[in-house]
Amino acid sequence: VAIIMDGNGRWAARRHLPRVEGHRAGIDAVRDAVETSARMGIRVLTLYAFSMENWKRPRAEVSTLMTLLKRYLRLELDTLLRNGIRFRVIGRPDALAPDVRDELARAVERTSGNTGMQFNIALNYGGRAEIVDAARRLIESGVAAADVDERRLADCLYTAGQPDPDLLIRTSGEMRISNFLLWQIAYAEIWVTDTLWPDFRC
Ligand code: FPP
Repeated sequence: VAIIMDGNGRWAARRHLPRVEGHRAGIDAVRDAVETSARMGIRVLTLYAFSMENWKRPRAEVSTLMTLLKRYLRLELDTLLRNGIRFRVIGRPDALAPDVRDELARAVERTSGNTGMQFNIALNYGGRAEIVDAARRLIESGVAAADVDERRLADCLYTAGQPDPDLLIRTSGEMRISNFLLWQIAYAEIWVTDTLWPDFRC
Protein backbone atom coordinates (compact mmCIF):
# COMPACT_ATOMS: atom_id res chain seq x y z
CA VAL A 1 0.00 0.00 0.00
CA ALA A 2 1.26 3.46 -0.87
CA ILE A 3 -0.27 6.69 0.43
CA ILE A 4 -0.11 10.29 -0.76
CA MET A 5 -0.83 12.13 2.48
CA ASP A 6 -2.54 15.35 1.44
CA GLY A 7 -4.72 17.94 3.13
CA ASN A 8 -2.83 18.93 6.26
CA GLY A 9 -2.96 22.60 5.23
CA ARG A 10 -6.70 22.48 4.53
CA TRP A 11 -7.35 20.69 7.82
CA ALA A 12 -5.60 23.55 9.64
CA ALA A 13 -7.26 26.29 7.54
CA ARG A 14 -10.73 24.92 8.41
CA ARG A 15 -9.85 25.39 12.05
CA HIS A 16 -8.25 28.82 11.54
CA LEU A 17 -4.92 27.35 12.64
CA PRO A 18 -1.47 27.81 11.08
CA ARG A 19 -0.57 25.18 8.44
CA VAL A 20 2.02 23.61 10.69
CA GLU A 21 -0.75 22.56 13.09
CA GLY A 22 -2.12 20.47 10.24
CA HIS A 23 1.24 18.74 9.89
CA ARG A 24 1.36 18.18 13.62
CA ALA A 25 -2.07 16.54 13.51
CA GLY A 26 -0.91 14.60 10.44
CA ILE A 27 1.69 12.85 12.57
CA ASP A 28 -1.03 11.16 14.60
CA ALA A 29 -2.53 9.85 11.37
CA VAL A 30 0.93 8.59 10.33
CA ARG A 31 1.24 6.72 13.62
CA ASP A 32 -2.23 5.23 13.18
CA ALA A 33 -1.61 4.21 9.55
CA VAL A 34 1.73 2.55 10.35
CA GLU A 35 0.53 0.60 13.37
CA THR A 36 -2.78 -0.46 11.78
CA SER A 37 -1.08 -1.54 8.54
CA ALA A 38 1.41 -3.65 10.49
CA ARG A 39 -1.42 -5.21 12.48
CA MET A 40 -3.39 -5.96 9.30
CA GLY A 41 -0.43 -7.78 7.80
CA ILE A 42 0.28 -5.28 5.00
CA ARG A 43 3.69 -6.26 3.62
CA VAL A 44 4.89 -2.84 2.52
CA LEU A 45 3.61 0.62 3.46
CA THR A 46 5.06 3.60 1.60
CA LEU A 47 4.19 7.11 2.77
CA TYR A 48 4.88 10.23 0.70
CA ALA A 49 6.18 12.59 3.38
CA PHE A 50 8.23 15.16 1.45
CA SER A 51 8.53 15.62 -2.29
CA MET A 52 11.37 17.33 -4.13
CA GLU A 53 8.86 20.11 -4.92
CA ASN A 54 8.15 20.61 -1.21
CA TRP A 55 11.40 22.59 -0.83
CA LYS A 56 9.50 25.49 -2.45
CA ARG A 57 7.35 25.84 0.67
CA PRO A 58 8.13 28.60 3.19
CA ARG A 59 11.33 27.91 5.08
CA ALA A 60 9.56 27.77 8.45
CA GLU A 61 7.14 25.13 7.17
CA VAL A 62 9.95 22.96 5.79
CA SER A 63 11.82 23.24 9.04
CA THR A 64 8.71 22.27 11.05
CA LEU A 65 8.19 19.23 8.84
CA MET A 66 11.79 18.14 9.45
CA THR A 67 11.45 18.69 13.20
CA LEU A 68 8.23 16.66 13.26
CA LEU A 69 9.91 13.89 11.31
CA LYS A 70 12.82 13.75 13.76
CA ARG A 71 10.46 13.75 16.71
CA TYR A 72 8.33 11.02 15.14
CA LEU A 73 11.38 8.83 14.64
CA ARG A 74 12.65 9.39 18.14
CA LEU A 75 9.28 8.74 19.79
CA GLU A 76 8.17 5.88 17.57
CA LEU A 77 11.33 3.84 17.21
CA ASP A 78 10.36 1.59 20.10
CA THR A 79 6.93 1.00 18.56
CA LEU A 80 8.52 0.16 15.22
CA LEU A 81 10.83 -2.30 16.95
CA ARG A 82 8.03 -3.81 19.03
CA ASN A 83 5.95 -4.39 15.89
CA GLY A 84 8.84 -5.89 13.90
CA ILE A 85 8.65 -3.05 11.37
CA ARG A 86 11.59 -2.47 9.05
CA PHE A 87 12.10 1.20 8.26
CA ARG A 88 13.61 2.53 5.08
CA VAL A 89 13.94 5.88 3.30
CA ILE A 90 13.29 6.31 -0.40
CA GLY A 91 14.33 9.47 -2.24
CA ARG A 92 17.51 11.52 -2.27
CA PRO A 93 18.30 11.91 1.44
CA ASP A 94 21.66 13.61 0.71
CA ALA A 95 19.86 16.95 0.44
CA LEU A 96 18.44 16.64 3.97
CA ALA A 97 20.12 18.29 6.96
CA PRO A 98 22.76 16.17 8.74
CA ASP A 99 20.72 15.91 11.97
CA VAL A 100 17.71 14.59 10.03
CA ARG A 101 19.92 12.15 8.12
CA ASP A 102 21.43 10.91 11.38
CA GLU A 103 18.02 10.28 12.90
CA LEU A 104 16.87 8.47 9.75
CA ALA A 105 20.05 6.38 9.60
CA ARG A 106 19.61 5.38 13.23
CA ALA A 107 16.03 4.18 12.62
CA VAL A 108 17.06 2.32 9.44
CA GLU A 109 19.95 0.68 11.24
CA ARG A 110 18.05 -0.26 14.41
CA THR A 111 15.16 -1.80 12.46
CA SER A 112 17.26 -3.47 9.77
CA GLY A 113 16.97 -6.92 11.36
CA ASN A 114 13.17 -6.81 11.56
CA THR A 115 11.20 -9.13 9.33
CA GLY A 116 7.70 -7.68 9.63
CA MET A 117 6.16 -4.89 7.61
CA GLN A 118 8.45 -2.80 5.45
CA PHE A 119 7.76 0.88 6.13
CA ASN A 120 9.14 3.19 3.46
CA ILE A 121 9.11 6.90 3.94
CA ALA A 122 9.54 8.97 0.78
CA LEU A 123 11.67 12.02 1.54
CA ASN A 124 13.03 14.46 -1.00
CA TYR A 125 11.40 12.00 -3.36
CA GLY A 126 10.46 12.38 -7.02
CA GLY A 127 9.30 9.54 -9.25
CA ARG A 128 11.12 10.82 -12.33
CA ALA A 129 14.29 11.43 -10.31
CA GLU A 130 14.07 7.85 -9.06
CA ILE A 131 13.98 6.54 -12.64
CA VAL A 132 16.90 8.82 -13.57
CA ASP A 133 18.87 7.52 -10.56
CA ALA A 134 18.06 3.95 -11.60
CA ALA A 135 19.26 4.64 -15.16
CA ARG A 136 22.51 6.08 -13.78
CA ARG A 137 23.03 3.01 -11.60
CA LEU A 138 22.38 0.73 -14.53
CA ILE A 139 24.90 2.55 -16.71
CA GLU A 140 27.46 2.56 -13.88
CA SER A 141 26.98 -1.19 -13.48
CA GLY A 142 28.27 -1.56 -17.02
CA VAL A 143 25.26 -3.54 -18.28
CA ALA A 144 25.05 -3.71 -22.08
CA ALA A 145 22.16 -1.75 -23.65
CA ALA A 146 20.75 -4.94 -25.14
CA ASP A 147 20.54 -6.49 -21.65
CA VAL A 148 18.52 -3.64 -20.12
CA ASP A 149 15.04 -4.87 -19.31
CA GLU A 150 12.23 -4.05 -16.86
CA ARG A 151 13.54 -6.37 -14.17
CA ARG A 152 17.06 -4.93 -14.26
CA LEU A 153 15.73 -1.39 -14.13
CA ALA A 154 13.36 -2.23 -11.25
CA ASP A 155 16.33 -3.71 -9.39
CA CYS A 156 17.95 -0.26 -9.48
CA LEU A 157 14.95 1.66 -8.10
CA TYR A 158 14.89 2.83 -4.48
CA THR A 159 12.30 0.09 -3.86
CA ALA A 160 14.48 -2.71 -5.28
CA GLY A 161 13.42 -6.10 -3.97
CA GLN A 162 10.00 -4.91 -2.80
CA PRO A 163 6.67 -5.80 -4.42
CA ASP A 164 4.87 -3.04 -6.33
CA PRO A 165 1.92 -1.48 -4.49
CA ASP A 166 -1.48 -3.07 -5.14
CA LEU A 167 -3.21 0.03 -3.83
CA LEU A 168 -2.40 3.74 -4.00
CA ILE A 169 -4.42 5.94 -1.64
CA ARG A 170 -4.59 9.71 -1.90
CA THR A 171 -6.34 11.74 0.76
CA SER A 172 -7.96 15.12 0.28
CA GLY A 173 -9.71 14.55 -3.01
CA GLU A 174 -7.29 15.53 -5.75
CA MET A 175 -7.03 13.21 -8.75
CA ARG A 176 -3.28 13.45 -9.17
CA ILE A 177 -0.23 11.22 -8.89
CA SER A 178 2.17 14.06 -8.01
CA ASN A 179 5.28 12.27 -9.27
CA PHE A 180 4.90 9.44 -6.74
CA LEU A 181 6.17 5.91 -7.49
CA LEU A 182 5.65 6.41 -11.23
CA TRP A 183 7.20 3.10 -12.19
CA GLN A 184 5.81 1.02 -9.33
CA ILE A 185 2.11 1.99 -9.67
CA ALA A 186 1.83 0.69 -13.25
CA TYR A 187 -0.86 -1.82 -12.20
CA ALA A 188 -1.98 -0.35 -8.85
CA GLU A 189 -5.59 0.36 -8.00
CA ILE A 190 -6.03 4.03 -7.12
CA TRP A 191 -8.37 5.17 -4.37
CA VAL A 192 -8.90 8.87 -3.71
CA THR A 193 -10.81 9.92 -0.62
CA ASP A 194 -12.04 13.40 0.29
CA THR A 195 -10.97 12.80 3.88
CA LEU A 196 -8.11 15.14 4.84
CA TRP A 197 -4.95 13.35 5.97
CA PRO A 198 -5.19 14.27 9.71
CA ASP A 199 -8.72 12.81 9.73
CA PHE A 200 -7.69 9.61 7.94
CA ARG A 201 -8.08 7.04 10.69
CA CYS A 202 -8.43 3.32 10.67
C1 FPP B 1 0.32 17.42 2.59
O1 FPP B 1 -0.46 18.40 3.15
C2 FPP B 1 1.27 16.84 3.49
C3 FPP B 1 2.62 17.03 3.43
C4 FPP B 1 3.29 17.86 2.43
C5 FPP B 1 3.53 16.44 4.37
C6 FPP B 1 3.11 15.17 5.03
C7 FPP B 1 3.84 15.13 6.30
C8 FPP B 1 3.41 14.72 7.49
C9 FPP B 1 2.08 14.11 7.73
C10 FPP B 1 4.26 14.88 8.68
C11 FPP B 1 5.68 14.39 8.59
C12 FPP B 1 5.81 13.00 8.15
C13 FPP B 1 6.14 11.88 8.84
C14 FPP B 1 6.04 10.59 8.12
C15 FPP B 1 6.59 11.81 10.23
P1 FPP B 1 -0.48 19.83 2.48
O2 FPP B 1 0.33 20.74 3.33
O3 FPP B 1 -0.04 19.76 1.05
O4 FPP B 1 -2.00 20.15 2.58
P2 FPP B 1 -2.86 21.12 1.64
O5 FPP B 1 -2.79 20.55 0.26
O6 FPP B 1 -4.22 21.04 2.25
O7 FPP B 1 -2.26 22.49 1.76
